Amino acid sequence: MNQPDDKFKPGRRSFLGYSAGAASVAAVTGCASVAADNPMAASASPVVGEAASTTQAVQMPMTLDVNGQPRRFYGDVRLSLLDALREKLELTGSKKGCDQGQCGACTVHVDGKRVLGCLTLAVTVQGKKITTIEGLASPGRLHPMQQAFIDHDAFQCGYCTPGQIMSAVAIVNEGHARNDDDIRESMSGNLCRCAAYPNIVDAINDAKGKMAATTTSPAGG
Ligand code: FES
Ligand code: FES
Repeated sequence: MNQPDDKFKPGRRSFLGYSAGAASVAAVTGCASVAADNPMAASASPVVGEAASTTQAVQMPMTLDVNGQPRRFYGDVRLSLLDALREKLELTGSKKGCDQGQCGACTVHVDGKRVLGCLTLAVTVQGKKITTIEGLASPGRLHPMQQAFIDHDAFQCGYCTPGQIMSAVAIVNEGHARNDDDIRESMSGNLCRCAAYPNIVDAINDAKGKMAATTTSPAGG
């Protein structure tokens, strides 16, 4: 019988096949379009996968509150939040750069605080509000930080961008974006191999004023 992860494995190795245009949109939104409704966020989402067999005793049912929707699946108790999002829930906006807490590409919000998805066990964040890059925009409208990253060309390949944006939103909310030095220090956990750092600082400076008048995490994260 098929394992729940199998159908996702080819996709993890083929993201470089995206077109440049699609990659730009995906970089800031985490998905191919800013859809008004997330088709993967059905409130009555079915359990993904199957109950544990005798040879998979570590599998257990989990429910994560992701972008305002309860998402249920079976997973290994050792499953990271990042792998749960990407491989169980098909939310591939959060990226796996290093898988060991060094690059920040996997940054998401848990109860409004930024966390590294690769270092967080999924089982430990049940009952908490998780916001990913896919849940940042309002229906039909980008989050001010997403728009600012576009306006200031704050990315090239876009691989680090979802994590950069999630961290950027968090540092503004934390009051750690008072000036350029403050922004650089607060964003130092998010690496960019394309070295888009000056543009990222510009984008955060642009967005922080606009964020004061809007909701920062529509999904409650
Ligand atoms: S993938 Fe999590 S910090 Fe690099
Ligand atoms: S835009 Fe390429 S790694 Fe940051």
